[in-house]
Amino acid sequence: MPAYNPVELILAKRSGQALDADQIGYFIDNYMTGNIPDYQMSALLMAVCFKGLNDAETAALTEAYLASGQTLAFPEVPPVGDKHSTGGVGDKISLMLAPILASLGMRVPMISGRGLGHTGGTLDKLEAIPGFRTQFGLREFQQLVEKHGCALVGQSEELVPADKRIYALRDVTATVESPGLITASIMSKKIAEGARHLAIDLKVGSGAFMPDLDRAHELARLLVQTGANFGQKVRVLFSNMNSPLGLAVGNGLEMIEAIEYLKGNPLRDTAILTTELCSQLLLSSGMAKDADDAIAQIDAAVKSGQALRKLEEIIIAQGGDAQVLEDYSRLGSARHKLPILAESAGYVHSIDARAIGYALVRVKAGRMKVTDALDYGAGALLMPKVGTKLEVGEPIGEIHCNDLVAGNEAVKLVRAAYSIRPESCPPEDLLLGSL
Ligand code: URA
Repeated sequence: MPAYNPVELILAKRSGQALDADQIGYFIDNYMTGNIPDYQMSALLMAVCFKGLNDAETAALTEAYLASGQTLAFPEVPPVGDKHSTGGVGDKISLMLAPILASLGMRVPMISGRGLGHTGGTLDKLEAIPGFRTQFGLREFQQLVEKHGCALVGQSEELVPADKRIYALRDVTATVESPGLITASIMSKKIAEGARHLAIDLKVGSGAFMPDLDRAHELARLLVQTGANFGQKVRVLFSNMNSPLGLAVGNGLEMIEAIEYLKGNPLRDTAILTTELCSQLLLSSGMAKDADDAIAQIDAAVKSGQALRKLEEIIIAQGGDAQVLEDYSRLGSARHKLPILAESAGYVHSIDARAIGYALVRVKAGRMKVTDALDYGAGALLMPKVGTKLEVGEPIGEIHCNDLVAGNEAVKLVRAAYSIRPESCPPEDLLLGSL
């Protein structure tokens, strides 16, 4: 590989030129070996945020990320699938989708993340289960998937280390929101883990980092195109993140909601999204012949209890206490349950899901820094959706907390996140389209 001057590459990108695969590979390799310092990488990332990456550059960056670590490969049969969500409030879909699909015979090597800011993370929800391990070496991860059909783990040092380092840098240099950077980051991990079929839940709305559908479409196109470059079938579902998903927000509480779902007690919006994402993967992989067949298989996996038994198997395989399935008190406790009551009568016109996520950071259901400790028992149960009619004094929900002062603050902030007006308002659609 020829030696380049990093300053010239930054300048080229800053002036809007496309970099070629060698130049991108050079920059990433030399960043990883320490020849290019954080400040030059930060400058390049900022130039990318302003000038963008075209499809070829995005593919080259994905390739360079992949080359920084090891990759997993599974045999073609049974199909290997995974789902990625761009993050939201109350999003516990992975906790249901992974055991459902694994119980139907799909291999699901799921690499998940932690919550930060207003959004939650699957790993934190799973770690509400006492003993549940999420850190495994790459070979151990592969063995878990081969033996149990599924494992839900954090990103290991061996898998796409360039993304791990660069994502941390993007987080503190305001360079996260670039479609090319997001695509390379997501797709490199999903390709490296060996998934051949990927369903992406691209959240749009107040609780998502994509505020509108137009920008979400551009990101979706790039995700699908990049997947195709690496032989991966990617389907993108646009879903509404103007309201928290389901009932619970908070790690232990969301785990309970997911377990209840697998016991056959689903809530409407989580059921719609789980079914749709599972269906997309069953269809993409050829495991279902049509949409009706996919839905019938998903229903049977839940009704027969096989998906719940698969979750139990996964919990045990990853060192967790499977008694949580019957004894929810093991998932964390809250000394206080504070009601949130409507102060005016009317219809819910909008919900600021982002503000709810931040309000719950106060009771330690979420974190502002990666090092912040979580309280697994803390969170909220929130009932109304956009369009719901409320009377004065009617419950919007309740805050579960162990710190009363923080809990009372959260009550006020969550109540203020609901805009209640006298005129009626139609409910919002959860599914906003697909690609
Ligand atoms: N999730 C990721 O894994 N990477 C991004 O860049 C954004 C969201």
